[in-house]
Amino acid sequence: MDTLTPISTAATAATADCYRPALHYTAKDTWLNDPNGLIFHEGIYHLYYQNNPLGNVWGNMSWGHATSTDLLTWTEHPVAITCDENEDIFSGSIVYDRHNTSGFGSGSIAPLVAIYTSAYKPGSVHEGIQAQSLAYSLDGGYTWTKHTGNPVLNRGSAEFRDPKVFRYDGDAGSYWVMVAVEAKDFQVVLYKSDDLKNWELLSTFGPANATGGIWECPDLFPLPVDGDPENLKWVLTVNLNPGGPNNGSAGQYFIGDFDGTAFTSASTITEGPQDPDRLGEYRWLDWGRDYYAAVSFSDAPDNRRLMIAWMNNWEYANHIPTAPWRSPMSLAREISLQTNDGNLSLVQQPAADWTALAGPESFCLSGTTIHDGVQVLAGAAGTVQRIDVSFTPGSAEEFGLILRGDGMQGTRVGIQPGQARLFVDRRESGRTDFHPSFTSIDTAPLPAKQGSYDFTIYVDRCSVEVFAQGGQVTMTELIFPAETSTDLAVYAVGGVATINSIQVTQLA
Ligand code: FRU
Repeated sequence: MDTLTPISTAATAATADCYRPALHYTAKDTWLNDPNGLIFHEGIYHLYYQNNPLGNVWGNMSWGHATSTDLLTWTEHPVAITCDENEDIFSGSIVYDRHNTSGFGSGSIAPLVAIYTSAYKPGSVHEGIQAQSLAYSLDGGYTWTKHTGNPVLNRGSAEFRDPKVFRYDGDAGSYWVMVAVEAKDFQVVLYKSDDLKNWELLSTFGPANATGGIWECPDLFPLPVDGDPENLKWVLTVNLNPGGPNNGSAGQYFIGDFDGTAFTSASTITEGPQDPDRLGEYRWLDWGRDYYAAVSFSDAPDNRRLMIAWMNNWEYANHIPTAPWRSPMSLAREISLQTNDGNLSLVQQPAADWTALAGPESFCLSGTTIHDGVQVLAGAAGTVQRIDVSFTPGSAEEFGLILRGDGMQGTRVGIQPGQARLFVDRRESGRTDFHPSFTSIDTAPLPAKQGSYDFTIYVDRCSVEVFAQGGQVTMTELIFPAETSTDLAVYAVGGVATINSIQVTQLA
């Protein structure tokens, strides 16, 4: 993680709100990082998050809070759980303790229980330790009381954090399961409990596959294979920083089984230290630079598995040129397990129905050849838009879209069919001067599907989220273009390609 360096926000304040996203959550005037305690409760989606209530760089870690009924628009609430002189409140999760196993309930009110990491500060009794603690809410998640018996799980470790708790009901019994990390050991540790207060070690998982940084923010959940509820597989997600496929922060996942005690991965390629040559073979939640600390909702309706990530990267997070806020969340995504060409993998789609925000005008074109060079699509300009596009490769060695362009700057989302590669090139995307590692060309392996390349892309003022081939590959990237750079163009290099269809929907 970047160190906490106070940086001046004055220089960026003037342009700041041309970057404020319309579709993605941002805190009004403070810093945020990881989503925490995601839960759907009594008809409301709760998004808590790592928040600095006093500034717009990392520090004073507390849990901020926002709610939504549709995952489209969010309302910010007062800070939910605040740091104090002893502890910072690091990442964690929330469960609805419907049978009051914890005893925090009152009368007929069952509690929401937050399980978070106490990062103990210098001078506290547990100085230097990270341990797991509880807080509870009896008013549906708006006010929280810290448990007087904290911490409830202390291994004497300085790097033990990010508990995700869920209810396991299976062949082995019915109990709470916690997955957390020993960050520097590349290990996910699994515990069980009957009351959320007493925890017993079940097993550990890792190191495996990507171990280029430290492991953080794990999650574990079952998903039906190809929609078949009789055929469940378990997915273990682990975020790591740095060490992502395009540098810095990223999330990997494993597919396997969980028997109530241990997770067994069927998708481990390397055990122990990672093989740098195999980075491209590991399974990534997202191949872009700005999708980190992804975690799923508890109790999402209709058995959906919904995830939100922090849309930033620790390499430059504290320096992105926005003010007074800093860092958006990703769109909420629905994730599922799908077999494609014999391979089982995660497929992701935006979870909300954005057509509710669609403006009256949309731009459509079909069956058009793109010639060598750049063609601006007149009538398709915008800063908040959804682009649905399908290409068939031709003789061009490279082709694709240029977003948020003005003839000088623009972000290329391109395909190199010869290399079966998708890329996002943000070298000319606008402001890149705030950190040396922001400028990048980021790539993902992407073969054609039935001869074509299909994308849904969300452009939202300071971001581009690409869902490729029906969500089999995603790339999420921040960009900071000039407010006036609004053109959408198509381009080809060294030959032709075909746009089978393109539809651009402006979103308010
Ligand atoms: C991930 C992380 C977590 C930690 C939190 C602190 O981004 O480093 O491991 O709990 O952020 O803000």
